[in-house]
Amino acid sequence: MIHNKKKYGQYFTNEKIAKFMVNWVIKNKTKSFLDPAVGEGVFIKLAQQIDKTLNMTALDIDDYWCQYLQHYLKKDCIKNADYLNTELDKYDAIVCNPPYNKFQKIKNRKILINNFQEKYSIKLNGYSNLCIYFLIKSLNELNTNGRCAYIIPYEFLNTGYGEVIKRFFIESHMLHSIIKFDNSMKLFEDAITTSCILLFENKYNEKIHFINVSNINELDSTNSFIDEKIYTYDELNPNGKWLNYFKIKQLKVNNNLIKLKDIGQVKRGIATGNNSYFTLNTKKISDLKLSKDVCLPCITKSADITNLIFDIEEFEKLKRDNKKTYLFNGTNANCQNDYEYISYGENSGYDKTYLTSHRKPWYSIENKMPAPILLSVFCRNKLKVIRNTSNVRNLTTFHGFYFNKLEKENFINLFFCYLLTPTAQKILFNNKREYGDGLDKFEPNDLNNAYVLNINLISENDRNKILNLYEDLKKSNRNKCIEEMDNIFSSYTEAS
Ligand SMILES: C[S@@+](CC[C@H](N)C(=O)[O-])C[C@H]1O[C@@H](n2cnc3c(N)ncnc32)[C@H](O)[C@@H]1O
Repeated sequence: MIHNKKKYGQYFTNEKIAKFMVNWVIKNKTKSFLDPAVGEGVFIKLAQQIDKTLNMTALDIDDYWCQYLQHYLKKDCIKNADYLNTELDKYDAIVCNPPYNKFQKIKNRKILINNFQEKYSIKLNGYSNLCIYFLIKSLNELNTNGRCAYIIPYEFLNTGYGEVIKRFFIESHMLHSIIKFDNSMKLFEDAITTSCILLFENKYNEKIHFINVSNINELDSTNSFIDEKIYTYDELNPNGKWLNYFKIKQLKVNNNLIKLKDIGQVKRGIATGNNSYFTLNTKKISDLKLSKDVCLPCITKSADITNLIFDIEEFEKLKRDNKKTYLFNGTNANCQNDYEYISYGENSGYDKTYLTSHRKPWYSIENKMPAPILLSVFCRNKLKVIRNTSNVRNLTTFHGFYFNKLEKENFINLFFCYLLTPTAQKILFNNKREYGDGLDKFEPNDLNNAYVLNINLISENDRNKILNLYEDLKKSNRNKCIEEMDNIFSSYTEAS
């Protein structure tokens, strides 16, 4: 029920959204909880369901709601007061859907602006919406490591009056995520407003998540969103239009970057049409007594490759472990047992799958050469990059990267080292496809059209350093090596 809708901005939060916000702010150590504009009390009711022992504080300017909430909270937890004029303690968790009054409706805004400047050292713009005052006050009332969630309109992300707030966000490093609801979604009855949830933590956050939500159900999985862009704090511009950060991440292309396809091509691996028939381990080969000629060495599973460098010794190890390391290449069949395996395939109908029925003969293997560098097709946050020195082919679990011209081994190793680094991956990820559940995918052309550093620009001295680190990759802490490589490569990608 809405009591004083227009006067006090009483638009109540949908329960699913409220649940998401409350779940986010309450952690194991949360003891105190504040809702500065409580209304019907959706947040406090949900918070109490999670933890009855929470120390609650709820305010509303409208006594009607304070009376109503006495059925749910102890009397001294509820304050009938104007939040902006109330001195409060600090809290571990603050959740709020504040009133959204435009600046024209804030009668005492000059006084408020002065108060805020004095108290919180922030000079809010006269056009700021009332909800911004609520937000700034709440962020100053958060305990160390405390969490805060606000749902407010998102216009300030793109407007002039928002600059002060965005600067405050950047300087404080408290902002963790902005979850922007698609503006086709109607979250509040009778209210035409845009909406976003802002999530804060009172600690030094390194990154900000810009998340688009087009269906409320997307809030069910708190840790992974379908459409999420992550920026480091130093990438953000307080004067910029932040709504752009929700779109494709804009890459600043400089002269040191070229397209991957300028130096080589990513191609998908071998598709068999029936892996369980075509892939073989050494035991199966010996049981079936297949000839050597029909057994083509091949990487069949991404999970089999655990080291960054896949050499012939690694391949031998996989064989010993009886992993599937060969493909059956029936075109080289030359003994009775080979032919029998082909007949077995035909009797089982394996010649009739989409891929096999389009190949001539059905049991031939696509003609793809071993690739010197392998790149994973699916990934989470990090693209798996493997230097393949084994001369072994690969199935579609990896894409293969082939240089346009014959390159020297050092050049290949150098480029491989570059691809391993966060600097390279960050640029490549501009071209990723996003799947649900935090899973990303790269089609070969996504990578071919992605930017990479022009390796030719690297000085002799830096090349030698990187190649030494490449040798160290095999023996010492790989993360430390990659970090050192990254320091060198990033100095080139950042130069304009
Ligand atoms: C948008 S409603 C949100 C209510 C509830 N928290 C929810 O999410 O459903 C805002 C609430 O803030 C209250 N309010 C408006 N101005 C206020 C002020 N200056 N101090 C405290 N509460 C205020 C209104 O009465 C209203 O109940």
